[in-house]
Amino acid sequence: MNIRICMYAAIILIVATIGIASANDLTEKEELGKLLFFDTDLSVPKGQSCASCHDPGFGFADPDSSRAVSMGAIHVRFGDRNSPTAAYAAYSPDFHYDEDEGMYVGGQFWDGRAANLTEQAKGPFLNPLEMNNPSKQSVIQNIRNSDYVDLFEDVYGVGALDDVEIAYDHVADAIAAFEMTDEVNRFSSKYDKYLAKEVSLTKEEMRGLKLFNNPNKGNCAACHPGTSGPYADKPLFTDFTYDNLGTPSNLGMLGDSPELMEYYPFYYQPLAPNFNPAGLDFVDYGLGGIVGEQDEMGKVKVPTLRNVAITSPYMHNGAFTTLKEVVHFYNTRDVPGAKWPAPEVDMNINTDELGDLGLSNDEEDAIVAFMETLTDGYE
Ligand code: HEC
Ligand code: HEC
Repeated sequence: MNIRICMYAAIILIVATIGIASANDLTEKEELGKLLFFDTDLSVPKGQSCASCHDPGFGFADPDSSRAVSMGAIHVRFGDRNSPTAAYAAYSPDFHYDEDEGMYVGGQFWDGRAANLTEQAKGPFLNPLEMNNPSKQSVIQNIRNSDYVDLFEDVYGVGALDDVEIAYDHVADAIAAFEMTDEVNRFSSKYDKYLAKEVSLTKEEMRGLKLFNNPNKGNCAACHPGTSGPYADKPLFTDFTYDNLGTPSNLGMLGDSPELMEYYPFYYQPLAPNFNPAGLDFVDYGLGGIVGEQDEMGKVKVPTLRNVAITSPYMHNGAFTTLKEVVHFYNTRDVPGAKWPAPEVDMNINTDELGDLGLSNDEEDAIVAFMETLTDGYE
């Protein structure tokens, strides 16, 4: 009897394990994309991969939260923006202007300048502030020397690395394929389990969820919808539109101080001043800088809130370091006497949906507690 139970248990265990294994099984192309994503030999100097700034252990964002921005492969170089999560980016529609809504939607990067994931993946290798390859040739040469060169040819054909332009497109294609897998987009947070009726939320989390959704309270779901939408049958917590929240600059937050130099080194770049000739006068115009329209200046793409509890700092420039600070900003930006620094871009600021939400301190905390249920891997 006991032995039989044991046997059944063992069979169930084996079946379950196979089930998990197959759920995580990647196709050859996805596996190749994964190897490329984690390969630290594809930067100049070697040492930096996509995962260096998009680490799965940190919600596919930068594990280093001591700065607003990420360090390049050359360690004295820094970009101008906070590394967003690379997870769930796959669901962003191609960048386009929605005629019905009268607004830009989708694309990749905070400013939408890459149309889609494949175009995005071609950027970091050649960016001198990131992986710093001098040419596509340099990336392809390193792949030729890698131990997954055979897999590359299995996926794209023998000789697929011979033409640099075509090979580089394949690299981006494979990375995008990996970024579309459920290894990256896990949908395994406490909130997902709550939607599947497998767990319940605490009172505090539940209160936060209601405030988050309530248009007369947090109104967060207006831009970060927590229900399925047009781009996925599960909630993405972004509608991929663009807004200027009046987020302050880092200079506004910290003043011209040693802390600022540490936290947002892009302003200074002492050893590489040509990357920011404007120095402290640098202003990030976001989408407006890309499409060249006054009406879009200062707008950036609404980020997903999945895994947000483990992806500090926050906003396109990393101006805020805690979720509480973010919520407090939404709640009090326009309250007289609140003393927030001036917005980085004082144009097109959204004053309809945020700025004076009238939330109590406890209500702010509840919204934070709710956002903490969005971290993947909840057991
Ligand atoms: C040095 C850090 C760094 C490295 C290395 C890096 N990224 Fe990024 N990544 C960023 C930053 C910063 C942004 C936002 C840049 C912007 O908006 O201008 C970004 C944006 C993205 C986005 C867009 C997400 C969204 O929601 O718009 C994706 C996807 C992405 N990176 C994937 C990759 C891939 C793939 C690689 C490797 C080929 C890579 N990254 C290498 C820092 C990095
Ligand atoms: C009008 C649209 C809109 C509304 C309403 C809105 N957000 Fe946002 N949210 C954005 C945009 C746009 C950004 C990026 C802003 C930036 O980088 O300057 C953002 C950024 C964030 C971030 C930082 C995420 C990251 O990865 O850096 C958090 C957290 C956040 N929002 C939470 C909330 C909460 C909580 C509410 C409700 C109290 C809310 N949002 C309401 C549009 C909105």
